[in-house]
Amino acid sequence: MGKTGLYKGLSLALLFLASGAQAVETTSPPAGNKIYHDTCASCHEKGLLGAPRFGNAADWEARLKQGRDVLLNHAVSGFKAMPAAGGNASLTSPDVAAAVDYMLNPLSPANTGDKAIDAESNLLDKQKAFFRHAKRGRAFVYPMDKDGYFSPPPMEELPDDKYGDEVRLGYRIFTQTQEYAARYAGRGLVCSNCHLNAGRKPHAIPLWGAAGMYPGYRFSSDKNDTLEDRMADCFRNSMNGIAPAPDSPEMRALLAYANFISKGIPIGVHMPGRSFPDIDYTGYEASPARGKDIYQTKCQTCHGNNGQGKSSADGGYEIPPLWGFNSYNKGASLYKQRMLARFIRANMPLNQGFSLSEQEAWDVASFVNIHERPKSPAKGIWQELFASDH
Ligand code: HEC
Ligand code: HEC
Ligand code: HEC
Repeated sequence: MGKTGLYKGLSLALLFLASGAQAVETTSPPAGNKIYHDTCASCHEKGLLGAPRFGNAADWEARLKQGRDVLLNHAVSGFKAMPAAGGNASLTSPDVAAAVDYMLNPLSPANTGDKAIDAESNLLDKQKAFFRHAKRGRAFVYPMDKDGYFSPPPMEELPDDKYGDEVRLGYRIFTQTQEYAARYAGRGLVCSNCHLNAGRKPHAIPLWGAAGMYPGYRFSSDKNDTLEDRMADCFRNSMNGIAPAPDSPEMRALLAYANFISKGIPIGVHMPGRSFPDIDYTGYEASPARGKDIYQTKCQTCHGNNGQGKSSADGGYEIPPLWGFNSYNKGASLYKQRMLARFIRANMPLNQGFSLSEQEAWDVASFVNIHERPKSPAKGIWQELFASDH
């Protein structure tokens, strides 16, 4: 099955599950999320007039206690500033019910979404209190920033000795890969183009999110990969370069850097802010045509009218290319549409993470990845030519 077909199948299946019994008679079920986006989102996305915001557990907490029937009734007949059926007279009660269920879905305990984040932040509060009361040396809780994410130590804490030198080299390799790991880097990218703020930023694949999680089993390699193995994969695919040997000076320096900025991270704990948050199938096809519009209004000023990025005076890139032969190759994680959509939603446009909707992230990701880029080094020419799903 091709990729699009697979997504379509999955998203229909999800919709079908989410919208329950009334969906059965028609082949296209009353898509709760479409109704939501067409009629309800105008108020519920941003909280207009005090409307409880989509997916915001705190806004819904007290309301949920009324039970689904009361909520449905209020949505159908109107309630205070909430107009009957959201003010859209063409909606039937089952339509409104589908929209309400769609709105309630991310709040149910079965869905990791906000509940998990809530649980996490409660835990963080506890840990923070614990940290304040802990006496030096008696208890250690990892250092946190103001939002409760892990806060890595600054480079200034490094000693002026050989250890410090190796970590500083690792930092340079990570942020200026083309100069400091020239024999392994590909043509254009540096590690920190994707691992933002030199691998420190939560939700931008921070190195400290990875450091305690390897060796760990990876589905793609079907074995326990070490942190060196994982980095080697990024060299090969994300960088379209060559993997350094585990004991090469470059790899050792990268490891030293990853380890240094992870000081205080527990081993084997999936830290909040690791990787980037997942996104749902929205129920719409990802559309490269809509993606193109988004690209032109929100990405093109930086990444160029042909995804080529902007070169810098020293021959590298001020802004990295999104496609073409200097970008990541078809074996890279970002070549998977969902991965790219997740990365973009959390991080792009630069410094405006989480400003695109999930649908916009899907669309623009599908647009970026229809363009040509280097082939996957793991695939032979025949697979490259004939594989329908990459
Ligand atoms: C014009 C803005 C607006 C639109 C459009 C709108 N809502 Fe609301 N909605 C509100 C406001 C405001 C409230 C909070 C009312 C209150 O409790 O004061 C609300 C509350 C609700 C509640 C909670 C009711 C309760 O008892 O706590 C549900 C459920 C709801 N809306 C569903 C929907 C659905 C479904 C749609 C689309 C079909 C929709 N809304 C469209 C403004 C809107
Ligand atoms: C084009 C973007 C891109 C570039 C460039 C890139 N990476 Fe990655 N990297 C990713 C993505 C995407 C993932 C996978 C995230 C996931 O699986 O959730 C990843 C994963 C990783 C991980 C594991 C993260 C984890 O939490 O398990 C490490 C370590 C890593 N990269 C190191 C590097 C190093 C070192 C370089 C430079 C040599 C590099 N990356 C270059 C995109 C990139
Ligand atoms: C203000 C300029 C700016 C805008 C606007 C912007 N980006 Fe970026 N983008 C960057 C920079 C700079 C980096 C590299 C970050 C770094 O090295 O610190 C980057 C990195 C990326 C990467 C990972 C590296 C690569 O080359 O693949 C992707 C993917 C990406 N941007 C996609 C987008 C998309 C899609 C949009 C529009 C929704 C967008 N960007 C909007 C500046 C921008």
